Amino acid sequence: MGYSIAVDGPAGAGKSTIARRIAKQLGCIYVDTGAMYRAMALFLIREGVSATDAEAISRKCQEADISIRYENGEQVVLLNGENVNGLIRTEEVGNMASASSPNPAVRKKLVSLQQRLAKTSDVIMDGRDIGTCVLPDATVKIYLTASVRVRAMRRYQEHIAKGETCDLATIEADIAKRDHQDMTRENSPLMQAEDAVLVDSSELDIDGVVSEIIRICRQKGIGA
Ligand code: DC
Repeated sequence: MGYSIAVDGPAGAGKSTIARRIAKQLGCIYVDTGAMYRAMALFLIREGVSATDAEAISRKCQEADISIRYENGEQVVLLNGENVNGLIRTEEVGNMASASSPNPAVRKKLVSLQQRLAKTSDVIMDGRDIGTCVLPDATVKIYLTASVRVRAMRRYQEHIAKGETCDLATIEADIAKRDHQDMTRENSPLMQAEDAVLVDSSELDIDGVVSEIIRICRQKGIGA
């Protein structure tokens, strides 16, 4: 029997870093669903669609063919056949992804792709609605979070390490705003599934979080 691990939580909680590490350790596939929403956002930007034009988003998103493949264990997102991994991590794309991801037509398309992937392989999948909507029967559900302050500090340090200047208070305000948007939207809001295990990474380092989640997986017979 195959298994699936759902990891949900707010932006900056460390979901992708943690999920990637766990995938390596367990030998399963890591599915980054945020990257799919970002690829769709890139398509909409290129098509000149406005973030506030819901009708145009619903119509245009039908023209985007998004798929993924794996190269050396890394997820590559293809937008109409083009590898867009290097183009989707910008602030502009992130903002468009945040604005377009609540659209029901966008979600329907990407959720069905995610569900197909989980049917064909053992997966660890991260996002906002994996345990609640995409994989309601996931073998293990984790809700990974950390305080706004800690998440802001981590992002701040990432920018500083890259030699960029930034302001901690602004980052903290952005994160709080994004949380509010993700948690209060009408369609698939971010929330902890009833049967999800809460893991708070505020006081844990990466190794600490990985070993905690591996322990939870073992209890469910994964990687035992
Ligand atoms: O995790 P991320 O920052 O790459 O996600 C980009 C955007 O996509 C974010 O605003 C939330 C949205 N998203 C979503 O609505 N559902 C998911 N399963 C994953 C991401």
